[in-house]
Amino acid sequence: MIENNKSKQDSEKEGGEIIVVKNLSKKFGSNVVLDNISLGIEKGKTTVIIGPSGCGKTVLIKHLIVLLRPSSGEVYYKGVRIDNLPDDKLNKVRTNFGFLFQGGALFDSLSVAENIKFPVKQHYKVTERSGLDELVKTKLSLVGLEGYQDYYPAKLSGGQKKRVALARAIALNPEVILYDEPTTGLDPIRSDVINELILKLRQGLGPTSIIVTHDMTSAYKIADRIIMLYEGKIIADGDASHIRNHPHPVVQQFINGRIGEDDLAVLRASGTIFQTQYLPRDFEK
Ligand SMILES: Nc1ncnc2c1ncn2[C@@H]1O[C@H](COP(=O)(O)OP(=O)(O)OP(=O)(O)O)[C@@H](O)[C@H]1O
Ligand SMILES: [Mg+2]
Repeated sequence: MIENNKSKQDSEKEGGEIIVVKNLSKKFGSNVVLDNISLGIEKGKTTVIIGPSGCGKTVLIKHLIVLLRPSSGEVYYKGVRIDNLPDDKLNKVRTNFGFLFQGGALFDSLSVAENIKFPVKQHYKVTERSGLDELVKTKLSLVGLEGYQDYYPAKLSGGQKKRVALARAIALNPEVILYDEPTTGLDPIRSDVINELILKLRQGLGPTSIIVTHDMTSAYKIADRIIMLYEGKIIADGDASHIRNHPHPVVQQFINGRIGEDDLAVLRASGTIFQTQYLPRDFEK
């Protein structure tokens, strides 16, 4: 039940797709992680990528900015093939992207302001200090952290760190923002703050957003389109209601958070652990 999104792709105007992936495969040794994936990402839209842990979501979005090179296949940005560019040319292409890494890693030895300035300094020869300070101020207010310039990451909560990482990701006013698990590890309220920020950014700068998440509440809230990866392929692709009503049992299992047969087999095989999870009071009347 592999979805055929070819016809959809063909019907969309070339200009509407800011990123195009053609027949992308990625292997690590004998481990085939991505298996002949083709995908067009529409400009200005929010695309959410879901799928079980280890299915290749991070590997896929790393290919979109060529942090990983394909084993075979091609990646295009605005109609230009980028997967085969040398590093110096890639760095230029990457200035169009903001990337919120899984875990939202900030540089612990740098202040909040220095963290946000980092991508700007990396890509441009900056001589004017005041301009950068102004930029930090604007980005911090966008994520609701006015006045946090001189804090160090160690003094911030998980949610605040993610927001600083988001401020850093948008420092260069990117056309495309890639978010890898932006709400993982946050409680539902803090997750919702991040979701609201993603929605707010979309109205403000109008970037194209690609978001990897396990969190279906977030996915339904922010996505124009949801793509599910499974065993190296796209098994579902459409809007929230398409995904909710999708007939593929793996899709239903994933979105409803039910445990699969494979997982059950693992639990059964580890019988003693399984049994000790029950406390005596579980058996009391
Ligand atoms: N640099 C690498 N070298 C070798 N194998 C890798 C590398 N990066 C990822 N993999 C493998 O590729 C597969 C997919 O990894 P990936 O990180 O994309 O999963 P994921 O879907 O993002 O999972 P999660 O939801 O846990 O973040 C895994 O089997 C992983 O071990
Ligand atoms: Mg991942």
